[in-house]
Amino acid sequence: MARKMLIAGNWKMNGLSADSIALATEIKAAVKSKKRNCEFLVCPPFTMLATVKKALRGVKVALGAQDCHFNEKGAHTGDVSPLMLTDLGCSYVILGHSERRADHGESNELVCKKAIAANKAGLKTVICIGETLEQRDRGETVDVCKNQVLGSVPADATALNTVIAYEPVWAIGTGKTPTAADVEEVHAQVRKVLAKKLGKAQANKMRILYGGSVKPANAKEFLSLPDVDGALIGGASLKSTDFMAIADNAAC
Ligand code: PGA
Repeated sequence: MARKMLIAGNWKMNGLSADSIALATEIKAAVKSKKRNCEFLVCPPFTMLATVKKALRGVKVALGAQDCHFNEKGAHTGDVSPLMLTDLGCSYVILGHSERRADHGESNELVCKKAIAANKAGLKTVICIGETLEQRDRGETVDVCKNQVLGSVPADATALNTVIAYEPVWAIGTGKTPTAADVEEVHAQVRKVLAKKLGKAQANKMRILYGGSVKPANAKEFLSLPDVDGALIGGASLKSTDFMAIADNAAC
């Protein structure tokens, strides 16, 4: 079964009401303007989810959050539960982004707990993995990514409720990228480890995105690789023309 490309925008901690509405409105118009064979997802900050949902009404662009708690509700000041996200109209949540792993000390175990809770609430997860520059320099890239998959992905994850995003930490927001061959090698190894963990059928259907300085100019190079099934885009997702050009240049 062919895997449908997922073009996902991670807006991170960016966007007040006016610019979020403007960005979502531009994306809506662009998505409507042409038939494309990919799935779109935007992940604004929590504060803008409802606003962006409204701005995207009537167009097929999925809404996702950038994190969630593993509990349904309770005494967790400042946290947001998976059910609160589905209640707002989210269908996805990004989990284990390297910025959360670094800024909030999120471990594979915690990411896995969150993923289980998110799936239980009906959310699809985008589980992020990726090596630091030091790990890459030590030749540990594939091992680090494999361990993150083994530790962060729930044992009963399926291709329907889980997407993996390979994002080398050193490539995020830096303009630096691995070579296409490096990306394909990691993706192929990740798919192998997914096959061991979840079975071949799920692994073959599960989407593995590349993220880290994806731009219109390099979209085709990465998104035409056999094991790359879309992109998780930070900086370039904040400009509707760049975000849409990534999909268009990848011919999806
Ligand atoms: P970037 O971010 O596209 O700005 O490198 C990607 C990400 O962190 O998801």
